[in-house]
Amino acid sequence: MISRKEFITMSLDLNLFFLRIMKEHSFFLEMGFTPRDKNLADRAGAFRQRFEQLLSRATALASGNVSADALNSRQITTRYTLDAEKLTNFYTGTPFNLELTRREQALQPAGFGMPGTRLEEAVEDLDRRAYQLTGELAAFKERLLESVRTCRTFTLNYPLLIEHILREARHFMNMLSMLVRRESIGGTEELLNQEIFWNRQMAEHAKFIAGLLDPTEEALIDTARMFGREFDELTAEAERTSRQALDIAGITEDSIEGTIRLRDFKAAGTEGLLECAIQSIIIPLLGDHVLREANHYLCIMGVCRN
Ligand SMILES: [Fe+2]
Ligand SMILES: [Fe+2]
Repeated sequence: MISRKEFITMSLDLNLFFLRIMKEHSFFLEMGFTPRDKNLADRAGAFRQRFEQLLSRATALASGNVSADALNSRQITTRYTLDAEKLTNFYTGTPFNLELTRREQALQPAGFGMPGTRLEEAVEDLDRRAYQLTGELAAFKERLLESVRTCRTFTLNYPLLIEHILREARHFMNMLSMLVRRESIGGTEELLNQEIFWNRQMAEHAKFIAGLLDPTEEALIDTARMFGREFDELTAEAERTSRQALDIAGITEDSIEGTIRLRDFKAAGTEGLLECAIQSIIIPLLGDHVLREANHYLCIMGVCRN
């Protein structure tokens, strides 16, 4: 059982990170459809707007209540987020609420005060709304994945990317329901599950990057493929650690070391996209998105300031 203050901080940290992630997943889906499926693009766009509204609500509640770790880890926004949104808007015409991004960047961490029951109720309401909306988006992703896998729909998003973002939605929902039950999502028992989950996500990020770079970007493609293999091995190692009840320290250390290198590769890549120094079909906001996910994962493993 976690305290009221822990519930509030953990909930706000989680929502600030994942509501933006869900908003961007909605956008990536929205962009991938062909003219035939304009109705699907519109539905994805409606999800994007609803997540943006909920993220705005989370940001209002988070002022003075979010953890310093969440802010320092650069998982909520990075130094590239605003520029990535501007350039993505320039390419696609999709509006992004830049004012909201600036409000997130200006957030102040929690002090020593004891939050009241009113705030606890408001945060619990946020958790429940986030769960509901993410459930709807997960159902949309699930139907789309089925339709793509059976060749009834064509989209520019890889089937594995749809599966990948569906997994992230379910992961978010699992943690929201734990928090509403006042269970900790930061315990050591949870850490190994998080490592199994995120090492796989990191492997897939590397594979998506490799597949979306222009074929002439051979050196970057080779590096991305190398990360893909490395994180496949780290995923297998984390699964083995779990199965054989081995000591978690070794795999955590290896995962931190690999994730810092992959994070730096993603940061350099995002910068390269913003500066038009890399040829690809990677939308700039996707670069920043996977960078934030690496920062989030590092913070879960205890590296929130780096
Ligand atoms: Fe994601
Ligand atoms: Fe991801």
